[in-house]
Amino acid sequence: AHQWRGVITEYAQWLPDSITGTVVTLREGGTPLIPAEHLSERVGAQVHLKYEGLNPTGSFKDRGMTAAISEAAGRGAKAVICASTGNTSASAAAYATKAGMTCGVLVPEGKIAMGKLSQAIAHGATLLQVDGNFDDCLTLARKLAEAYPVELVNSVNPARIQGQKTASFEIVDALGDAPDIHCLPVGNAGNITAYWMGYGEYADRGPATHRPAMWGFQAAGAAPLVLGHPVDEPETIATAIRIGNPASWDQAEAARDESGGIIDKVSDEEILAAHRLLSAREGVFVEPASAASVAGLLKMSDAGLVPSGATIVCTVTGHGLKDPQWALKNADGSDVEPTRVPIDAVTAARALDLQD
Ligand code: F0G
Repeated sequence: AHQWRGVITEYAQWLPDSITGTVVTLREGGTPLIPAEHLSERVGAQVHLKYEGLNPTGSFKDRGMTAAISEAAGRGAKAVICASTGNTSASAAAYATKAGMTCGVLVPEGKIAMGKLSQAIAHGATLLQVDGNFDDCLTLARKLAEAYPVELVNSVNPARIQGQKTASFEIVDALGDAPDIHCLPVGNAGNITAYWMGYGEYADRGPATHRPAMWGFQAAGAAPLVLGHPVDEPETIATAIRIGNPASWDQAEAARDESGGIIDKVSDEEILAAHRLLSAREGVFVEPASAASVAGLLKMSDAGLVPSGATIVCTVTGHGLKDPQWALKNADGSDVEPTRVPIDAVTAARALDLQD
């Protein structure tokens, strides 16, 4: 019987030998591209959601991590390290375990979603909480990787980008060609770099006839690429993209400019509204940062900038169960309270609007 073999084996011909030689996989990738009827109607285009929350550890990071850990394994590495707002650490911890390596993760003080923390701990990573933000954690992780025998598996590791570019391949393979526009959240900017690389390779040497415009969206309180300078104290409820000085800054600008795209910002309110829309109208549960792609698309649509009938893909990067607290708040910020009922069918039926 056939099953999806993971992104390295499925796309081996598009990846360097250093990655395909020793494969460490949890069968990541092969995620669904889901037509979004409500969103399509709302923006007057054909919108699809690339649901990356369905990767083994619940985010797109697994595509890059299988590549980074495989390459490290091929070199005989025994230990890996990363800085993370949560998802990278969950993924690194899982793949390091699979490869029999130790894993150290550096996370910023507080602000890490509980689901992600518990994954890193469950997979046996050594967790260091750093007195600083994500950018400080990455600086520290780079220093450790330079001075000690430990491999850095952040997206500054080229293997990470190689693995993550496979998402573009899957999208073209599913649609038959590249979309017109691709929307995604931008934090450290590895993923927009990877998608642009994948679309480029498939347009140059693969089945795509063109490349999409890349539309990246940052949280308004953490929008260095929009402002044009680093942000010292990034703030947003979308903790995954609470990043003030993206490592792949230049590559993100290149993706924007070469594709004729944009990098814009969305407010926390817009992110939470998109998060609610995805859950309540499309049946797709994501973590807040993931909803930035859809929030951005809606912002562009409201500004009249979405071409009618365009084919659009929004990557939703991480699963809603990573950070489930946001679904338990109403739009006004108050807590969602359950309706209490006695053990009585008529009362329960009234509460369910099944009876007057
Ligand atoms: N969405 C989610 C759910 C993320 O976890 C991240 C990044 C992004 C979007 C942004 O992707 O950094 O490639 O631009 N999370 C990293 C982490 C920083 O540590 O898990 P990017």
